[in-house]
Amino acid sequence: MKRRDVILGAAAAGLAVPGRAQQPLAIKFSHVVADDTPKGKGSLKFKELAEKYTQGRVKVEVYPNSQLFKDKEEIEALQLGAVHLLAPSTAKFAPLGAKEFEALDLPYIFPTEAVWSKVAAGPVGEWLFAKLEPKGVKGLGYWNNGFYMASANRALVTPADFRGLKIRISGSKIADQMYRGLGAIPQILSFSELYQALQTGVVDACENSASNYWTQKLHEVQSHITLSNHANLQYAVITNLKFWTGLPADLRGPLDQAMREATAFTNSIALKENEDALAAIRAAGKAKIIELTPAQLKQWQDSFRAVHKWAEGRVGKEIIAMLYKESGYVAS
Ligand code: LMR
Repeated sequence: MKRRDVILGAAAAGLAVPGRAQQPLAIKFSHVVADDTPKGKGSLKFKELAEKYTQGRVKVEVYPNSQLFKDKEEIEALQLGAVHLLAPSTAKFAPLGAKEFEALDLPYIFPTEAVWSKVAAGPVGEWLFAKLEPKGVKGLGYWNNGFYMASANRALVTPADFRGLKIRISGSKIADQMYRGLGAIPQILSFSELYQALQTGVVDACENSASNYWTQKLHEVQSHITLSNHANLQYAVITNLKFWTGLPADLRGPLDQAMREATAFTNSIALKENEDALAAIRAAGKAKIIELTPAQLKQWQDSFRAVHKWAEGRVGKEIIAMLYKESGYVAS
C-alpha cells in the first residue's frame, strides 16, 4: 500500500466526517507526545475552549502519543486534509518546504525562556509563518516546551564526550550538523520509536525536554542526563489553510479565540511542567543528573558555535540576522 493511502486510511478509520448539518464539525488534533506534557495539556485546553466557545457546534478530537500518525506522516496527513491540527516541533518543518524554521534550533540562541517567548511572538515568528501559506498550511501559534537536555549511557560533561555516540535527533539539519561537528553520529527517528531505540542500543544518546524524558521514561534507558539547555524545544500549531479559511465565519472567530487562549495557557505552564518533570526524574533516581559549571557551559557554547555559520547555507542569512537581533545573541 502507498504511504498516502495508509495516511488517508488511518484517518478515515472510525473518524467519519459528519454528514448532517446539525452534527458537530469534527476537528482532529493529532500530536506525538503524552497528555501530561505542555503540548498535551495545551491541546486539551484548546478542545475545552473550542467546544465551549462554539457552543458545541465543534467537537475537537485529540489524538496524543502518535496514536493517529507518527512524525513525518502527520505533516503529510495535514497537507492531504486527513487531520486538521498539529503541533509538531519546528525541527520537523523541512518536509513542509519550510526549512527556515530550523533556525530556531541554533544552539544557545535563547538565553532564557522569556527571550524565547519574545522572539516567537515577534517578527521572527511572523516571518516564519508567512513561509507556510504557499505550502497550503497556516500557522496558528507557537507553543513552548522548554530547553533541551542531552543524555547518553555515559556522562556528557565536555563536548568531547559526544565522540562516537549514535544520537537520536528529531529532524533538524542544524542538530545533525551540530552533533557531526562533535564527532557523534546523528540519526533521525520518530519520537514514538525513541524509547525502544535507546533500550535496544539502536542509538546511545538523545536530546529532549524534561517533560518528554519523564513521560516517555527516557531517564530509565539513559544513565546520565546533562542540563545543557543547548537549544529550545518549541512547536508551531499548524492547520490546513483551506480548511481553516473555509470555516464558517461564526465558527472561525470562536476557534481563533480558543487557539489564542490555549497558546497563552500552554506557554504559561511549560516552564513549571518541565521543572516538575525534572524533579520527578531526580526523585526516581535512575539517571544521574549533571549540571555544568560555568566553565563547562562555555566549552559547550564554544564547540556548538561553528554550526551557526554553517546554518547560513541551510536556512539563509536573513532569518539568522533577524533571530540574532531579536534574541540578543552575539556571534563571535
Ligand atoms: C521529538 O521528536 O523529540 C519531539 O519533537 C517530540 C515532541 O513533539 O515534543
